[in-house]
Amino acid sequence: MRLDKFLCDCKLGTRSQIKKDIKSGLVTVNDVKILKPEQHIDENADRICYKGQPCVYEKYVYYMLNKPAGVVSATEDQHEQTVIDLLGQQKRDDLFPVGRLDKDTEGLLLITNDGPLAHDLTSPAKHVEKEYECHLAQPFDDRQKEQLEQGVDIGEKALTKPATVNILEEKKIVLTITEGKFHQVKRMLSAVGNEVIYLKRLRMGALTLDESLPKGSFRRLTEEETENLRK
Ligand code: URA
Repeated sequence: MRLDKFLCDCKLGTRSQIKKDIKSGLVTVNDVKILKPEQHIDENADRICYKGQPCVYEKYVYYMLNKPAGVVSATEDQHEQTVIDLLGQQKRDDLFPVGRLDKDTEGLLLITNDGPLAHDLTSPAKHVEKEYECHLAQPFDDRQKEQLEQGVDIGEKALTKPATVNILEEKKIVLTITEGKFHQVKRMLSAVGNEVIYLKRLRMGALTLDESLPKGSFRRLTEEETENLRK
């Protein structure tokens, strides 16, 4: 990783300030003064000091991705572009998506290296809410709403847990579920005689998709977003 990026990740200042500080000789790597911001370092092995103080690399990182269709929710794939590939320069071996969205599903995806948080967010025992915008092939009616709110048979041992439905238009709803079975939303709509033709995740627990993020873009979570997710 570049030295200036490392120091930025340690939250020691803006990239431009850090570059200036490096050029002014405020940074050492293994006790050697380094004046080039683009110098590559090994963040796991090198001892980096800023103004004489050792730098602590942040343990966990959190990105919100606005997943586009056509990309798979995996860390690597032989043939397909993955959500981790979309991170470009921020791509790291320890990052993974929290839960899976289908290849054709868009919207909110959390990418992190925080295993314990990911476990909490995806554990069936925690009932974390996931909110989806669904565009449907058929008009949606009150009978379908009632069925989804009560729980439907999608071929699992038990009916689905009661969902919340908000009807936006004749063929557009927001569905909130607390489970995360394979193709769950599509199977639920199919179980009530409808069909999902477009699916977008809007929210997971306390984390809401930042609609100003263009499709395929990502950003770091704010400290407030990270705190709220941990609660
Ligand atoms: N449910 C689905 O059917 N697909 C998704 O991608 C997410 C939830």
